Amino acid sequence: MLPNNLLSILLVISLVSCKNILVYNPIFGYSHAKFVSQLANIIADHGHNVTVFQPFHIALKNTDGLIKNKNIEIINYYPDHYAELLKKKTPTFPDFWDSHLMNNPVLSSFLMPKALGGEFEQTTTQLFQDQKILNDLKNRNFDVLLAETFEIAGFYIADLLEIPSIPLMSAVRLPIIDSAFGQPSILGYFPQQYSKVAPEAGFLDRLNDLYRIFFWNLTTQRLCQFQNDFIQKAIGHPVPHWRDLVKESPIYITNSNSYLDFAVPTTATIVHVGGITIDLEKMRHVAALTEEYENILAERESTVFISFGSVIRSYEMPDNFKAGIIKMFKSLPDVTFIWKYEKDDVKFQNRLPKNVHLKKWVPQPSLLADKRVKLFVTHGGLGSTMEVAYTGKPALMVPIFGDQPNNADMLARHGGAVAYDKFDLADGEKLTKTVRDMVTNSKYEVNAQELLKVLSKQPIDPKLNLMKHLEFAMEFPKHRSQVPAINRTGLIAHYYLDVIGVLTLASIFGLFVIFKILNILRKMISLRKVKRE
Ligand SMILES: *[C@@H]1O[C@H](CO)[C@@H](O)[C@H](O)[C@H]1NC(C)=O
Ligand SMILES: *[C@@H]1O[C@H](CO)[C@@H](O)[C@H](O)[C@H]1NC(C)=O
Repeated sequence: MLPNNLLSILLVISLVSCKNILVYNPIFGYSHAKFVSQLANIIADHGHNVTVFQPFHIALKNTDGLIKNKNIEIINYYPDHYAELLKKKTPTFPDFWDSHLMNNPVLSSFLMPKALGGEFEQTTTQLFQDQKILNDLKNRNFDVLLAETFEIAGFYIADLLEIPSIPLMSAVRLPIIDSAFGQPSILGYFPQQYSKVAPEAGFLDRLNDLYRIFFWNLTTQRLCQFQNDFIQKAIGHPVPHWRDLVKESPIYITNSNSYLDFAVPTTATIVHVGGITIDLEKMRHVAALTEEYENILAERESTVFISFGSVIRSYEMPDNFKAGIIKMFKSLPDVTFIWKYEKDDVKFQNRLPKNVHLKKWVPQPSLLADKRVKLFVTHGGLGSTMEVAYTGKPALMVPIFGDQPNNADMLARHGGAVAYDKFDLADGEKLTKTVRDMVTNSKYEVNAQELLKVLSKQPIDPKLNLMKHLEFAMEFPKHRSQVPAINRTGLIAHYYLDVIGVLTLASIFGLFVIFKILNILRKMISLRKVKRE
């Protein structure tokens, strides 16, 4: 598309000055690394000097091709225990499928910070004691550092290098950080898993929202504090609090898109760049399907494509979920199913009817672009959610963990997708009914196509939005005028609880006085009556 390229060229020309940018990209989870890499690519495409620093917390193997811009310098930081990390199997988190413990917000707030933060500890500790690499970074005279607010060591690196940092988030939002940038509470605006949205939401929904957001807050706070503590230990003297480091920036970049996401009150400091990972032009010209897939799609009129992403494994799905899915396959013999299934499993294959094809690898973009694929069944990682939104394809979202339930609800509210509880995978009948409805009822496609149109025509291109705000923030790295001052007050002043309290008391007192006066008047009147008689 010409306008997009033109925009990029114009941006390059209009650059006030090229900056020397350090992107801190810790390797611990594929979707995080992917988003940060894509961000780095875009910034480098716009003419800045970008260096990506990658400390390895786990030996993720598929991160190699993520940095595409050839001008980017990559510094991989392999810790001393890297050989051990290599020996470990890539975690596939089978427990996330159906463990009620893993899915419990209270438990996860106690276990997750240490379990996940613990993964970061060894490499980060070594990094902060490695004067050689720290000096090397310092000598490169970076203007600014970009880091995600999840693995937060980057902010301490920026502090050591005495350069400003700009926080970003590969997910839609993180309330404890959003609030440091002036965003009010999302209660009621962003429904939590299992909650209805206002005005349908009732008391139990609101209670559920409060419960889940509270423990989500607690989890992320404890995760940051855990890292804060071991970084302080590694450096060996008191360090600034993580929140104070993160909140110096004039902007906070998030992977939300205002036209896809729930409408929440926000401020100009929070920059929504969701959609930067999408290349509409490339999506319109996907690779042609191989003959094998052409044949599969020709088998029946409708095809459904199932993929639970690359972290969780379909073959590790609990057996009762598999049984429900198989029942659905058998109940819909007129539909062909392609299921991304990571293992050759003859025994399992034998349990399946003829209309199912298990594939270890699938050409996802080409399948999503094909009209004959009527429905995409997905776990709803944010990457897939964006991709689905931008293909205009109906989707059955079956969230498994993390931010996936929120992503599912976010997409479902546009009417082209349905959020489906993973525990209901075991219910073959319900699953059949849902899939049949989504394949045959055209309203899902109409709504999904409408969303695609909206996203393609959103007033400000997400990449442009990113670059304009980033360049502004690099120019004015401490500018905080867009953060409301009310943000620095406590809960009472923030919500005017003192005034509400005093006015309530005054009203009660007033009513009491009026009541007393009326009482006296009544007595006087009845006294007079008695006298007259
Ligand atoms: C960017 O890199 C080029 C080539 O290495 C160098 O000449 C230029 O000075 C760098 N610019 C900044 C702002 O560091
Ligand atoms: C979550 O934390 C943020 C920031 O500390 C705060 O503004 C918000 O009220 C908290 N929400 C709940 C439900 O605890």
